[in-house]
Amino acid sequence: MTADRARVIVFDTTLRDGEQSPGCSMNQQEKLRLAHQLDRLGVDVIEAGFPIASEGDFESVRAIASVVRRPIIAGLARACRPDIERAWEALRDAERPRIHVFLATSDIHLKYKLRITRDQCVEQAREAIRFAKSLCDDVEFSPEDATRTDPEFLCCVLEAVVEAGATTLNIPDTVGYTVPTEFGELITTIRQRVKGIERVTISAHCHNDLGMAVANALAAVAAGARQVECTINGIGERAGNSSLEEIVMAMRVRPDRYPYETGVVGEQIFAASQMLSEITGVPVQPNKAIIGRNAFAHEAGIHQDGVLKNPLTYEIMTPQSVGVPDSKLVLGKHSGRHALSIRCEQLGYQFDRRGLDDIYRRFVRLADKIKHVEDHHLLELIRDTHKPSGSATPLIEPLAQAKAAVVNAPPPAPEPEPEPIRAFPVGPQTNAFGVPLPAHSDSHHEQTQQEDYLWGV
Ligand code: KIV
Ligand code: ZN
Repeated sequence: MTADRARVIVFDTTLRDGEQSPGCSMNQQEKLRLAHQLDRLGVDVIEAGFPIASEGDFESVRAIASVVRRPIIAGLARACRPDIERAWEALRDAERPRIHVFLATSDIHLKYKLRITRDQCVEQAREAIRFAKSLCDDVEFSPEDATRTDPEFLCCVLEAVVEAGATTLNIPDTVGYTVPTEFGELITTIRQRVKGIERVTISAHCHNDLGMAVANALAAVAAGARQVECTINGIGERAGNSSLEEIVMAMRVRPDRYPYETGVVGEQIFAASQMLSEITGVPVQPNKAIIGRNAFAHEAGIHQDGVLKNPLTYEIMTPQSVGVPDSKLVLGKHSGRHALSIRCEQLGYQFDRRGLDDIYRRFVRLADKIKHVEDHHLLELIRDTHKPSGSATPLIEPLAQAKAAVVNAPPPAPEPEPEPIRAFPVGPQTNAFGVPLPAHSDSHHEQTQQEDYLWGV
């Protein structure tokens, strides 16, 4: 933690906006379980639900508010008395309650959904915040569909609610319409034009309809927002919300560009993601950044070889830093011998060069057919390749047995010369770009490395 980095508040809305996504509803017990994990994850605010929406939602918010004590617990309410009262009823036992009031401000919402004028909108927002403030000190206001609202009018509404006592102004890109430069400019405009803005926290709430939710949230932070609303695994209405893990890790991996701190405990990210997926039954897409199954998996031989030599070659963060147990080398047809030999060693088999060549040829043929070679396939292949025959001494054995065999075995019969493998240029050694390599005393080692590189291509 460095003093010169601004602190960004992480507002998790997995239990509210996230739960609104198809197939993601959770019961009270499940919400409570996830809320405890969000607490361990270190989020600052948990939006626990929308209390007026249903009896179940109300009870869930109430249960979370009464047992999860460290983070702020927020409850959502439309800008009307019954919603705000219900939200307060659910939140009143919280150690740190927050009422989150929203009202649409774009002309399209005012005209077709709410059927009110702009003046009526300002009045309704002001009244709602005054009422919420009479119940709770911590009040957040969201002008729904802010990014499609006339900026002049948006600033007018925001000024009214700041005056009425709002402490956080959340700017939602409700339909995922904005782009990073535009959203950053909107935040700047709000900071320049809204009177009293210095007393409140500006927040960003981005949807992912154009795949830019995280980029938009980060642009807002760069422009001065100090709260981000996000969800685990990026779940949420339609294409989802900005994903918590991506925002947090972007700041952690690129502090040169995003010099901000959050209170999130990186090592708890994977557990939160897995728990959500397990509870909802909605799997994480394999290539999802940070927490997808393939996020730290390497199949291409060049990549495997690099990662085994130094993970930094192809990994910009460690799996451990986000709580992923271990980097996974996927063995498939693009894999190289380096990765294959490591996996074999992990399975208890060690090979000399010729033994590895034998296994590798058969492994590639198998991978061509079945795509991913699992450990049990590999074990079968090893046993099959090196079945003890009457005359030949097995080239490989499980490590423990092999050691014993060295001690007890009679001198082995001379083996026939192995067939030379010419998978890469012989004669003067060149690197992958054809540039001659300098002669080196450890030329076999270099040759092996060069070979591994090319085998993976
Ligand atoms: O997307 C949205 O506008 C919302 C608000 C209720 C904040 O979820
Ligand atoms: Zn939303």
